[in-house]
Amino acid sequence: MSNPASAQLDQLKTQAQQAFEKAQNLQDLYNAKVQYLGKTGAVTDVMKAMATLPKEEKPQFGKKVNEVKEFLEKLYAELELNLKNQEIHSKMENERLDLTLPGSGSILGSLHPVQKVTDEIVQIMARLGYSLRTGPLIEKDYYNFEALNIPQDHPARDMQDTFFVDQTHVLRTHTSPIQIHSLENEKLPLRIIGTGAVFRCDSDISHLPHFHQIEALCVDEKISMADLKGTIAFFVREFFGPGLKTRFRPSFFPFTEPSAEVDCSCPVCKGSGCALCKNSGWIEIGGSGLVNPRVFENAKIEYPKWQGFAFGFGIERMAIIKYGIEDIRLLPENDLRFLRQFS
Ligand code: PHE
Repeated sequence: MSNPASAQLDQLKTQAQQAFEKAQNLQDLYNAKVQYLGKTGAVTDVMKAMATLPKEEKPQFGKKVNEVKEFLEKLYAELELNLKNQEIHSKMENERLDLTLPGSGSILGSLHPVQKVTDEIVQIMARLGYSLRTGPLIEKDYYNFEALNIPQDHPARDMQDTFFVDQTHVLRTHTSPIQIHSLENEKLPLRIIGTGAVFRCDSDISHLPHFHQIEALCVDEKISMADLKGTIAFFVREFFGPGLKTRFRPSFFPFTEPSAEVDCSCPVCKGSGCALCKNSGWIEIGGSGLVNPRVFENAKIEYPKWQGFAFGFGIERMAIIKYGIEDIRLLPENDLRFLRQFS
């Protein structure tokens, strides 16, 4: 058979076969199928030529068209299957689960550095036989000041330092009132530590208006400055490690006599002077001293039968020294980028 329609059909067959085999994906393959075998496709068009053929050539031509269609449909089915398999295969490759990868997990919360430091201090002092006490944040004037021998005209009562709740109540300015509650209510001898929040009208890179203190009180029959120094030296060394220097500076507190302030060498500048230690090379962590007989008298405790020492340290101060934090105000800010460094 050598009519032009038949030759065209041969040509189409080759073209379609090439187009099918060239298809890189199912969409291309389908497009090629529509182009050649679709309702308005090239092969369908050629069939229309049938009408113009002499009658005797029609059956043979029809047969040939069917053969070409069958051939192309079979080829299409094979290629379609291949491409489908390929697509599934590459999808599986791409979405492959690596069960050995670490999971994304959920972020666990952690203790705030102030709480961590508090817990650590409580544990160190527990080893020396001290047990934990707390007290109210709003104190009567009597417990925050009067019983501690802080007279009416003492500057600590000034509006600039103390938040007054009303005429007779204050937000406690220190944890020392816990000493009085224990002296009034507990049996002697006594070794207690008190912790918690305290409040003062004060704020800069080393002062916060709301901070935390740790208070220790030891009452026994014979207590001297040596006991105080020994206890603080042990406590500070256990807490900071052996690398840090401490010093006692003579000072004054109405509720202790004699009194000393305790300083630690500055962890940021190592003593050469910086903004944190106000160029002194030292950072004050708190006060200490032997319990003033007037405090015993107020609590109706016999002196000198009973004697004692006490100290009160700022927990945020201890935290910035331990971790080398340059601005104390980072602690209450609760920026997670900062806090996560301690988890
Ligand atoms: N309460 C004092 C303060 O807040 C510290 C202190 C406690 C001093 C116990 C002596 C004894 O500054």
